[in-house]
Amino acid sequence: MADLCVVGTGYVGLVTGACFAELGHRVWCVDLDDRKVALINAGKSPIYEPGLDELLKRSLKRHALVATTSLSEAVTQADFSFLCVGTPSAEDGSTDLSIIRRAASELGKALHDKHVNSRKSKAKKRHVVIVKSTVPPGTSESLDQLLREAAAPDFGMCMNPEFLREGSAVNDFLQPDRIVVGGNERKDVDAVGRLYAGVKVPLIKTGLRTAEMIKYASNSFLATKISFANELANMCEQFGIDVYEVADGMGYDRRIGRAFLNAGAGFGGSCFKKDVSSLIYEAKKRGSRTAILDAVMGVNELQPFRVVDLLERGLGSLSGKRIALLGLAFKDETDDIRDSAAIKVARALVKKGALVVAYDPKAAENARRELGGAILYANSPKEALKDADACALVTEWKSFGKIPLSAFKYMRGRLVVEGRQVLDKKALKKAGFKYLGIGRA
Ligand SMILES: NC(=O)c1ccc[n+]([C@@H]2O[C@H](COP(=O)([O-])OP(=O)(O)OC[C@H]3O[C@@H](n4cnc5c(N)ncnc54)[C@H](O)[C@@H]3O)[C@@H](O)[C@H]2O)c1
Repeated sequence: MADLCVVGTGYVGLVTGACFAELGHRVWCVDLDDRKVALINAGKSPIYEPGLDELLKRSLKRHALVATTSLSEAVTQADFSFLCVGTPSAEDGSTDLSIIRRAASELGKALHDKHVNSRKSKAKKRHVVIVKSTVPPGTSESLDQLLREAAAPDFGMCMNPEFLREGSAVNDFLQPDRIVVGGNERKDVDAVGRLYAGVKVPLIKTGLRTAEMIKYASNSFLATKISFANELANMCEQFGIDVYEVADGMGYDRRIGRAFLNAGAGFGGSCFKKDVSSLIYEAKKRGSRTAILDAVMGVNELQPFRVVDLLERGLGSLSGKRIALLGLAFKDETDDIRDSAAIKVARALVKKGALVVAYDPKAAENARRELGGAILYANSPKEALKDADACALVTEWKSFGKIPLSAFKYMRGRLVVEGRQVLDKKALKKAGFKYLGIGRA
C-alpha cells in the first residue's frame, strides 16, 4: 500500500484517485475548487460517471480517500504525486500548459517545504511525480526542470498517460488494455508500475517522451478511424449502401478491428480534437508533414453539419420548424458536452431559424450553461418529440433505442434523422416514418 497525492479531481483525477483507493492505496485528492472537494468528501462525484459514486463512498468509509484544497497537506502524507490537471487547447491548436506548469511549481514548493520540515527525520523517502495529464512530447522534461527550480528535493519524474473513456472510466482504469509508464530512472518506473499491482495487464516501460507520444499517437489513430468511417459513410450514401454493414464486414478482419469504425456526427469530447490539433501543431513546428491528421480534422469539422443537411433534405427550409434533438452530451453515459457534435448541431439549427427542443438524460444542465435559452430543454424524449416537425438523434445513449414507436407518433412531422446507430430504422420505416441516417441506405 502506498500514499498518493492526486492533483486535480476532474474526470481523470477523480477516477484515478477513487480507483487507486479501490486497489488498496491511501489517496489524497487535491483540487482548487472547494465545491468539488466538499462534494467528494460527501461521497458524491461532481461529474456523472457510472460506478464512481459507489467507489467513492466505499473508499471514504474505509478512510482510503480524502479530498482537500491543501496541496501541502496532501504532499506531506504522500510518496507519489499524480498531476491530473487540464491541458486545454490554445487558439492556435497548441496545448496551453499554463495550468499544469502552475500545478508543477506549486508541487515543487510543497515538496521543498516537506523536505525542510522533515530534515531531522531519518525516514526521508524519494518522492515520485507522475504526469497523467495528456501533454506534448518533451513537456514532462520541462516540468521536471520547473520542480527543480522550485527547489524540490531529490525526486523522480514519470509519465503515465491515461486511456480511460468517459462513460466507462472506472472500468477502463481498472481493466485497461495496457499501462504505460515512462521515466528517466528505472527504479521510479518500477515503483509506479507496482502501484498498479492488482491490474493484470501488460506494463509498457518507456522513456518520458515516448510515453507522451504513445498517448498522442493512440488518440490520433482513433480519431483517424472515426474520420475514415465518416468519409466512407458519405460515399456509401451516394452508392445506396449502409456504412454500418460495411464496417461490420471490415471489422472481422483482425488487422482492422470493428471498434471506432462508427460513422456519425463526428467525434467530440475534451480529448480527440485537442490532442490531434496539438500533435499537428508540434509536428509542423518541427517541420514534419501532417497530411493525414489535417484531413482527419477537416472531415470532422464538417460532419455535424451532415445532420443539418439531412434535415434540410427531408424538410426543406428549417426556418420556423420545430426539431426534437435527442442528445446533447458528446457521447453516451456522460454529462460532458465539451466539443460535443450535438451542441454544434443545436447551434446550426438555431442559426437557421429552427426551434430546437432537446432531451439528454444527463447533460441538459451543462448544455444550459453553454447554450442558455437558445433552445428548449425537455424532461423526456416524449416531451421533446411532441409536435416536432422532425427528430434528430446525435448522441448514442442506449436508452434512445428503447423509445417506443408510440412516442415518435406524437411528432407533427414524420422525419427522423440519425447521426449515430441507435434507432431501429426498419421499425420506423415500417411505421411510416421517413428515416435518413448518416451513411445509412
Ligand atoms: N477527460 C478524459 O476523458 C481524459 C482521458 C484521458 C486523458 N485526459 C487528460 O487528463 C487531463 C485532465 O483532464 P480532465 O478531463 O480530468 O480535466 P478537468 O478539467 O475535468 O479537471 C481538471 C481539474 O483540475 C483542477 N485543477 C486545476 N489546476 C489545479 C491546481 N493547481 N491544483 C489542484 N487542482 C487543479 C480543476 O479545478 C479541475 O477540477 C487532461 O490533460 C486531459 O487531456 C482526459
